[in-house]
Amino acid sequence: MNQPVEYSCDVLVIGSGAAGLSLALKLAQHCQVVVISKSKMSEGSTKYAQGGIAAVFDEEDSIASHVQDTMLAGAGICDQDIVEFTAQNAKDCMNWLIDTGVDFDEETDAQGGTRYHLTREGGHSHRRILHAADATGKAVQYTLSEAVQAHPNITLMEGFNAIDLITSQNNSKQCLGCYVWNRKIEQVEVIRSRFVTLATGGASKVYQYTSNPDIASGDGIAMAWRAGCRVANMEFNQFHPTCLYHPQAKNFLITEALRGEGAYLCHADGSRFMHKFDERLELAPRDIVARAIDYEMKRLGADCMFLDISHKPAEFVIKHFPNIYKKCRSLGIDITRDPIPVVPAAHYSCGGVMTDKNAKTDLDNVYAIGEVAYTGLHGANRMASNSLLECVVFAHAAAKDILSRLNEEVSNEPIRAWDESRVSDSDEEVVIQHNWHELRLFMWDYVGIVRTNKRLERAMHRIELLKQEVQEYYAHFRVSNNLLELRNLLTVAELIVRCAMERKESRGLHYNLDYPDQLAESGPTVLSPTIVSKTHPKTH
Ligand code: FAD
Ligand code: SIN
Repeated sequence: MNQPVEYSCDVLVIGSGAAGLSLALKLAQHCQVVVISKSKMSEGSTKYAQGGIAAVFDEEDSIASHVQDTMLAGAGICDQDIVEFTAQNAKDCMNWLIDTGVDFDEETDAQGGTRYHLTREGGHSHRRILHAADATGKAVQYTLSEAVQAHPNITLMEGFNAIDLITSQNNSKQCLGCYVWNRKIEQVEVIRSRFVTLATGGASKVYQYTSNPDIASGDGIAMAWRAGCRVANMEFNQFHPTCLYHPQAKNFLITEALRGEGAYLCHADGSRFMHKFDERLELAPRDIVARAIDYEMKRLGADCMFLDISHKPAEFVIKHFPNIYKKCRSLGIDITRDPIPVVPAAHYSCGGVMTDKNAKTDLDNVYAIGEVAYTGLHGANRMASNSLLECVVFAHAAAKDILSRLNEEVSNEPIRAWDESRVSDSDEEVVIQHNWHELRLFMWDYVGIVRTNKRLERAMHRIELLKQEVQEYYAHFRVSNNLLELRNLLTVAELIVRCAMERKESRGLHYNLDYPDQLAESGPTVLSPTIVSKTHPKTH
């Protein structure tokens, strides 16, 4: 049995997106932080965010209005206290990003001074979205990355997959650190830490079509679940209405801000259809717009719908949406003249690991921030541009709580060794590839925008079969990135289907033809794990 390499630190942050890096920067003046990412540090959903970040900056806007819009989009099951906390802290958090170096777009005001240009997106009743053209996430990711790289108290470890949280043998609520797979040398190692924060992003990769990058395989949710944390609202996976439909475009989003600036949805013949679904037309919340597109596509047997902004001056379109213009142009679509072919795609996990207002999970020293978490902010449907906001607000809240606990006693319990004495190299990689595709396809077909009880049962049946196969495979072969992700995606798929089966109504993003109505009273769907064994399968 190999004694694994062991690193140690005060706080281990798993994930280097907006959430993880904001936390690392807030902590690093006071303690030693290790940030790990399984891919390149900039590779996460954050980098691809387009529209922007919601915060009240306009004098005519108000925090009460931000709260009300969020609650309305969330279809009645947001946690009001959390929504208020987030909206109240939004401006300070945006000013922190600005002080750190994020360059949001500005415009000239009536007095000839400058102010931030605020755009609009679905569900928002005011212009409230700070943005850096149509590539806000890139500005946030690179600014934070640079600051983190320059900080002497932060160690960055790229190419390390977190496998599992290591809980104490004496106290199952205490986490000692994490097993990580060092991709370069293909070895499992240990990072021991006093506090662990999951900032691993979402799980939309569980669906065949998604706007998300490959890293979005729900690892943090699955790890927390295996370690004994509750998860909630996993049935509410958000489908973004408008991803580019083109054979050469993988996961390319067409921001909702386009609709905010006047683009409309239409059929191939140019006729509009949103008036049939909602009086807010193209600016109805995302669940409604995605369902409308899905309905029209199925009704007409069409491959896609179209988004048209060609009626706006070309100069305006190119100035506000330079990246979308460039990308579409490279594929032969001139958005100043042509409608853009679009389809809905899985975009955001509204549910996740349950946390309190300090971002703490059910384990005493484990936190979860960003898309991996369920804070109660989004309810049954996240309002546009509230996600990056949540990343920063809860990173700051977690930092405050962790800093107040740095004097707590440190455990020196030995960590169980990772045992690879009974495993060998995988001989049938095709099993993993096949199961990946199968899972993502049936999740799309059976647990997508429109669900039925029968489809959910079918999906669960297949999940059970795949779980057996993958568990067996995991027990016998050395880990690899694909195997780790498949194992996690299966757990996430099971949690999504279980939550969907528990909800006997249609609400927000969860639409079940067998329960088309919304119940008068409802709340979050909470799942509690039964910990069968505290021992990791490879620590025997
Ligand atoms: P991410 O940015 O996804 O980062 C996750 C990190 O965790 C990565 O570093 C990854 O390598 C690491 N990781 C994952 N698993 C492991 C593991 N097992 N071991 C080690 N590391 C791991 N939201 C908005 O508010 N406004 C927008 O305009 C907007 N536009 C979007 C556009 C697109 C195309 C997409 C995909 C999302 C958009 N969103 C937007 C949503 C928002 O970008 C994400 O919710 C947010 O960036 C998530 O940040 P995060 O820090 O939680 O995770
Ligand atoms: C977009 O730009 O349309 C995405 C915004 C978001 O997901 O919040």
